[in-house]
Amino acid sequence: MITVAGFNTAIDRFIQLGTLTPGEVHRVRTELVYPGGKGVHVAQTIAALGERVHLVGLVDAAHRNLICRRMSERGVLFHGVEIAGDLRHCLALQDDEGRITEILGQGPQLSPAECDALVRDFRRSVDESDLVILSGSLPRGFEPTAYAELSTYVKGHGQRCLVDASGAAMRHALEAQPFLIKPNRDEISELSGQPVTDLDGALQAVRDLMAQGVAMPVVTMGALGAMAGNASGIWHAELSLERVRNTVGSGDCLLGGIAVGIAREMSLEDTLRLGAACGAANAQGEETGFVQRRAVEALLPQVRVRRLS
Ligand SMILES: Nc1ncnc2c1ncn2[C@@H]1O[C@H](COP(=O)(O)OP(=O)(O)OP(=O)(O)O)[C@@H](O)[C@H]1O
Ligand SMILES: [Mg+2]
Repeated sequence: MITVAGFNTAIDRFIQLGTLTPGEVHRVRTELVYPGGKGVHVAQTIAALGERVHLVGLVDAAHRNLICRRMSERGVLFHGVEIAGDLRHCLALQDDEGRITEILGQGPQLSPAECDALVRDFRRSVDESDLVILSGSLPRGFEPTAYAELSTYVKGHGQRCLVDASGAAMRHALEAQPFLIKPNRDEISELSGQPVTDLDGALQAVRDLMAQGVAMPVVTMGALGAMAGNASGIWHAELSLERVRNTVGSGDCLLGGIAVGIAREMSLEDTLRLGAACGAANAQGEETGFVQRRAVEALLPQVRVRRLS
């Protein structure tokens, strides 16, 4: 079983408009509301690939039904810690040209008791897991060292911990030397203190992360593909898509695929292939952070994987 800590559950609203002009009144053409947040995306991907997955995150009274129903439809066992405040809301506005304008809510300020309840549920789930993922932003109320502490807890239980975060939370997590971290281009640039813009830069970054004690770093570079390393070598995977619809959440879906590869003890090459197919499957679809198994399987043979060292 895989546990995903995706504490900062969001309510995503996707709205299509004709045009978007500041200061004007706009009428909605279509509107979709669904549970979001990186943890939801990762967990949905793992479930779509057929592995058992628990997701620990926040819920509020107004959205408990929506979230629990959707997660259960998608095969994710959701542990929702109910808070007094409101969940984070994220708004995506798409105009006729396909451009997406995002407005991301701040999210709730948690009380110490609410933070403790999340950590308690997380620890309970870790005790039954083979693999653990910490994904996305920490809700307000947590210290930026929280992922480092959770990662140390997971390691102390002899399990592997995979971290996808940014800013101070990621920097502190790195010091705890988790099994895997998955920065994207911006995150690895921030982490390494220099811009990483091409595959040579990504290769160097993977080497540096391994030297810093990360057993299996994965660096994703959007359309340039993904790179992963471990003691067996460093590999790069990419795939060209004819039609790209929405790449938001591709990193989350890639991480879900990588987690499944690790849980199944696949080789690094095959694990990266599965991850890249999941990232691309998400980019092909409209919904953010959601893939279907048959779409992933159809893309697998198209992924080009090569060994770099
Ligand atoms: N345009 C694309 N064509 C093909 N594959 C893509 C494309 N965009 C993303 N991918 C795949 O998805 C992976 C993750 O993408 P990216 O680096 O954009 O993640 P990210 O920025 O972490 O995304 P998010 O945080 O929104 O989930 C890439 O490494 C690649 O394998
Ligand atoms: Mg990402």
